[in-house]
Amino acid sequence: FRNSPLFEGYKQEDFRLLTGLIRERRYPQGTILFLEGDLGDECFLIKSGTVKIYRFDESKEVILALLRKGDYFGEMAMMQEGLTRSASAEILETSYLYSIHRRDFLAFLEQNPKLCIRLLEATMNRLRKANEQIYDLTLLDLKPRILKTMKRLSLEHGDRTADGSIVVPIKLTHQQLASMVGATRVAVTRIINSLQKEQIIKFDKKLLVILRPDLL
Ligand code: CMP
Repeated sequence: FRNSPLFEGYKQEDFRLLTGLIRERRYPQGTILFLEGDLGDECFLIKSGTVKIYRFDESKEVILALLRKGDYFGEMAMMQEGLTRSASAEILETSYLYSIHRRDFLAFLEQNPKLCIRLLEATMNRLRKANEQIYDLTLLDLKPRILKTMKRLSLEHGDRTADGSIVVPIKLTHQQLASMVGATRVAVTRIINSLQKEQIIKFDKKLLVILRPDLL
């Protein structure tokens, strides 16, 4: 967890206390860490892997975020005793996660205003993104919505290759992309096919490759 942007600039001794309170565990792909509505008394920081944050009913799912190395989650229910999880979390790719109990984390926060400010900044960023998503869902047609989601994925998680394209290193199905943009799988597949024909994107072993980042 020392390498997380959250703890950038922290000194060795700041960590000594925290290290004893943090647990590291491996979670295989498909593990449901918690479900919306569960009571939550711990939060997580991702060392490696991918975690899907989502909400669902019997027939549909909406993916709120895909989180990776350095991201944290589960802090919302944890801030106040008795609060429940605002969304569910599933391990999309086998992950190593650090976790800490609310009691220990809140005590640490009280001693570390710098960390409080970083958390506040990260929360503001999430709110900014969520507002952007409300705007997109309300005002944009499906194609620009898909393009914006791809852009967001490439900015947050993408690796630029020598030829200028960007690879998003998360295996994504059309269904998952549909759950990110609030559309049906069929409608999303149609647009993905046309984007592939236009050579704006391609899929390489289920990884999204953005061939023309300038057009997103
Ligand atoms: P919590 O409510 O404890 O459990 C679900 C977690 O998902 C929540 O805390 C946040 O950490 C995370 N989360 C919820 N909504 C979003 C979002 N829009 N973007 C990123 N993470 C989120």
